[in-house]
Amino acid sequence: MKISRISIDSLIELVTGGGTVKTGVDIYNKKGILLLEKDVLIKSINPLLLVKNSGVFQIPVAMDSNGGLWDRDGRPLPMEKEEEKAVGQTIKREINDEIDTKLQKIAVLKKEATYTHEKAKKNYRKVLKEIQKTGGEFDVELVQNTVDEIFEFVVRSDNAFAYLAKEIISFDNYLYNHSINVCAIGTAILKMFNDSFSGIINKYLATYPDSYIGKKDNVVSFVEFLPEDLKNLSLGYFLHDVGKVLIPPEILNKKGPLTPEEFEIVKGHSFDKGVAILKKNNLDNTYIRNITEYHHGPLFIGEGRCYPNNRLPIEIPLYVKICKLADIYDAMTSKRCYKDAMNPTGVVKNIFNEYADKDHMLQFILHSFVKSVGIYPPGSIIFMATGQMAYVVESQGPIVIPFTDKNGKTLAKKSYPVDLGDEEQQKHGFCVDRRKPLKTPIEVYDLLPEYLKAYVGKD
Ligand SMILES: [Fe+2]
Ligand SMILES: [Fe+2]
Repeated sequence: MKISRISIDSLIELVTGGGTVKTGVDIYNKKGILLLEKDVLIKSINPLLLVKNSGVFQIPVAMDSNGGLWDRDGRPLPMEKEEEKAVGQTIKREINDEIDTKLQKIAVLKKEATYTHEKAKKNYRKVLKEIQKTGGEFDVELVQNTVDEIFEFVVRSDNAFAYLAKEIISFDNYLYNHSINVCAIGTAILKMFNDSFSGIINKYLATYPDSYIGKKDNVVSFVEFLPEDLKNLSLGYFLHDVGKVLIPPEILNKKGPLTPEEFEIVKGHSFDKGVAILKKNNLDNTYIRNITEYHHGPLFIGEGRCYPNNRLPIEIPLYVKICKLADIYDAMTSKRCYKDAMNPTGVVKNIFNEYADKDHMLQFILHSFVKSVGIYPPGSIIFMATGQMAYVVESQGPIVIPFTDKNGKTLAKKSYPVDLGDEEQQKHGFCVDRRKPLKTPIEVYDLLPEYLKAYVGKD
């Protein structure tokens, strides 16, 4: 039997990167207690951490049919003359390559997000100017093309606009950004909802009396969001506040609370001005009209400050309810001239507390909402409970690369990705500190190590 002695740290690195270890020999501590059984395939770092914590820093591995090391794709790792060194280097190279590939992917996505966002903003600015000039008419094709690009990007990248800076001060800028964000967030929620719940909801609706779920007047209840419907819904989300362009800016930018008369004028942006603009442009799609008209409608009986008040919550279609959640989320997480931005995680929690348990059907939308926006976007910065800052490389988990120590000092060495969704890691403080807000890499640029700066860029 050919035995090689491998450092426990190398093995932890191997397993962290998705590799597997089988020692092929039983491993004991100094007191003779069995730590690792020879035939167990080790795929998680937990047993290795146990070994390390017992004071064993090198372990024998039988490099033949009894044991060995395999990479994440199940390929055996070669053992040359200087076995441990070779294994260590191979593992390091593979993990480094993997980190670089992930960082590169995020950098490309971020560039694309910035480009798509800027282009959409420029187009919408042009459209709104046109509406102001003509009293309502605009280039519908330009808006459609813009929304198609946002739609395609969001579906492909899981709402990657989420971590773009949201420093919006004037109302003009706010309206462009807000429309794009509501379009992106609404589309992401819709997609999540469609993928996760549409089958369940259809079964649930089948138990409702026909008078509740059929087409009633101009309100369509949820049946199914077909692929051809999704783009119209995204277009509706993009245009939901179009009527605001005809509301006096001094009211929209007012720092203090609105008078009852001013509030009446603002309300008109949806069921009055918004609907009129759609009509002027022959946009008579039911989805788009319902979104524009009812996106401030009630989500449960007795909800305050909702308008217009001619619909019960059950008569507000689910896709409109999605728009309302996306609208509240974006408004609360954006910085305005009269208020600071709120922490996105806190906003998700507030929205959930506000609407959970109010209406059975609403639960499905809320879950889709939390699943799509309550994640940590790749390329954002989070704080861990250890006090360290980390760069998110995958939103599921999330999987992060820590880059500071617990005192906020930049780490000299490249760290290996940590899965914060792993319960064992969480016991060691490797979990998101939800009290602290997400940051963008630009906000903490000076703290980033050189290898991250190279990907983040400063443009
Ligand atoms: Fe609105
Ligand atoms: Fe809005």
